[in-house]
Amino acid sequence: MAPHDRPDIHINCAVSADGRLAFAGGRRARLSGPQDLARVQWLRADVDGILVGIGTVLLDDPSLRVHAEMIDRPMVRSPARIVLDSSGRTPMSARVLDGSIPTILAVSESCTRTFPPNVTVLRSGGVRVDIPTLLQQLQRAGIRKILVEGGGEVIASFVRGGWFDRFTVYVAPVAIGGATAPPMMRGPETVGDADAARLRFVSAEPIDDGVLVTYLPGASVPGAPRPLSDGASARPPGAPP
Ligand SMILES: NC(=O)c1ccc[n+]([C@@H]2O[C@H](COP(=O)([O-])OP(=O)(O)OC[C@H]3O[C@@H](n4cnc5c(N)ncnc54)[C@H](OP(=O)(O)O)[C@@H]3O)[C@@H](O)[C@H]2O)c1
Repeated sequence: MAPHDRPDIHINCAVSADGRLAFAGGRRARLSGPQDLARVQWLRADVDGILVGIGTVLLDDPSLRVHAEMIDRPMVRSPARIVLDSSGRTPMSARVLDGSIPTILAVSESCTRTFPPNVTVLRSGGVRVDIPTLLQQLQRAGIRKILVEGGGEVIASFVRGGWFDRFTVYVAPVAIGGATAPPMMRGPETVGDADAARLRFVSAEPIDDGVLVTYLPGASVPGAPRPLSDGASARPPGAPP
């Protein structure tokens, strides 16, 4: 899929030094420090939609809203919350269904669950959400920029598919280890170089006590990279213009 047939996509996450997204069993870990948290709010404020997988909704119950107070920027319009949820498992009690901000549930064509009228349901794929189709649906719905926040299965799909323009990873100075703490990318096994998604390194900047690493799609990742623009000087490193 050509980059101009889809919204602009920025993947962002925070990991431990050993590449884990959370503690054992997926228990939420606060990996970001204050500067990185503010940077994420700038990223959120700059997009039309914030996308996560149902795994993150079930484990973390995120609000996926912009904490405008952290960036001292009034929000004219909140980005939509987008959840990849093939079979419609999002609980009615989930914060993404609290009605305070528009929510888009991306389900598969075989999903039979119904949702409240204030939820936009986009169908694609037979049993699992088909991301290229979803991206076209989102583009048609006026969503021009998306921030993909996780978790590991969703990041793996976007990276392997080459459906991203920028990929930023905050690496926190903590090591988690263990067998069940989720890695930054799950999904299909990579058995050799041919399967590995190549990234193009752009920069590594100190932020809080950790490092913010920025990548573009590399040679083996489908889709032409879009240039990174320089951030405004008053903003934290990695914040959008
Ligand atoms: N540190 C961070 O920055 C950060 C950010 C976000 C989340 N997290 C952590 O990530 C963990 C959750 O990650 P996770 O891997 O378990 O779940 P996830 O990536 O949030 O969600 C995965 C689920 O999304 C659904 N999905 C639908 N279509 C998909 C597609 N085409 N590709 C991939 N997924 C698709 C699938 O469920 P269905 O088949 O039912 O649709 C899949 O099981 C939590 O521990 C959370 O704390 C960390």
